Amino acid sequence: MSDITCYTHGLALAPMAGYTGSPFRVVCRTLGATGLVTEMVTAAGISRRSVKSIRYLRYLPEEKPLGVQLFGAKPADFSRSAELVSTLGFSFIDINAGCPVKKVLSSGSGAALLRDLPRLFEVVRATVAATSLPVTVKIRLGFSPDEPLPEGMCGLLCAAGASAVTIHGRYRSDMFGGAVNPEGIERLSRNSPVPVVANGDVKSPADGERLLSLEGVTGLMVGRGALGNPWIFRALSGGPPKPGPGEIRQVIARQLELMLAECPQPGMFNAMRGHLVHYLKGFPGAACLRDRAVRVATPRDVLELADEAEELIWGAL
Ligand SMILES: Cc1cc2nc3c(=O)[nH]c(=O)nc-3n(C[C@H](O)[C@H](O)[C@H](O)COP(=O)(O)O)c2cc1C
Repeated sequence: MSDITCYTHGLALAPMAGYTGSPFRVVCRTLGATGLVTEMVTAAGISRRSVKSIRYLRYLPEEKPLGVQLFGAKPADFSRSAELVSTLGFSFIDINAGCPVKKVLSSGSGAALLRDLPRLFEVVRATVAATSLPVTVKIRLGFSPDEPLPEGMCGLLCAAGASAVTIHGRYRSDMFGGAVNPEGIERLSRNSPVPVVANGDVKSPADGERLLSLEGVTGLMVGRGALGNPWIFRALSGGPPKPGPGEIRQVIARQLELMLAECPQPGMFNAMRGHLVHYLKGFPGAACLRDRAVRVATPRDVLELADEAEELIWGAL
């Protein structure tokens, strides 16, 4: 697989701000995620060379091929930031045209671009002109059911220079709630001249097959279904769906090690807590462990919880 087809024709981990930093991306890659992309990074911040924004661009060699996702509203910010990120070893640049959060919309970024297609196309053209990397775009079905994207949307993005499109099968008005809408994805993917990655509610191989069977869909992207369950990538590749004995501890310990290396303590424990409450689910006694997970403050606290989870699931190992 070429670098970009790892993303467009494989199993991609969705960008999820606050969760899919380098440590979780590495864990998911180890378990079969072929497509990785950073969480959204501000194009304006990168253009200004803001240290805070540039921090989000750090990654480890084992994450390659890796894309970088930019969000913003101004074509000039995209072209300046595309020039910079193109020198950093990324395999593609993804444009966020789906973030539904008010603060992001108020600056004309994210899903606001779904309501201003001339601007979105201008952003794509400006990015493409500034880089030799493939440029992809992540969209939703539209701003709301009353404002759906045109059926030929993927063709229009292709005409602006996009190499692939990811479709999150919800409207901006859905935020992250409600069931994914496969018919809505297929309406846009059916006649796409570029590869389409389908995203939304993939929590099992059956969910994955349903989206992959849609006309024009070439790859899958998994978001919340991977939180606490990076094994979903193994399951989607036909491997064992559940972690075996010792695997939860092993994955938590690896993630902890990577997070400690990446983030200064104690800030890193906020992120770790967010992951632990997802790992510690679905077995008798998990609720008690989750109560403690929100208070972990040392590496030892984290590993003790991981050991106890293994004991509760498998008995003493
Ligand atoms: C906490 C959180 C953070 C997210 N951050 C981003 C982001 O940075 N960029 C982006 O394109 N989408 C972001 N998303 C949306 C996901 O990439 C994905 O499209 C969405 O969760 C639907 O997929 P799912 O149903 O598999 O979770 C985020 C979603 C969540 C839940």
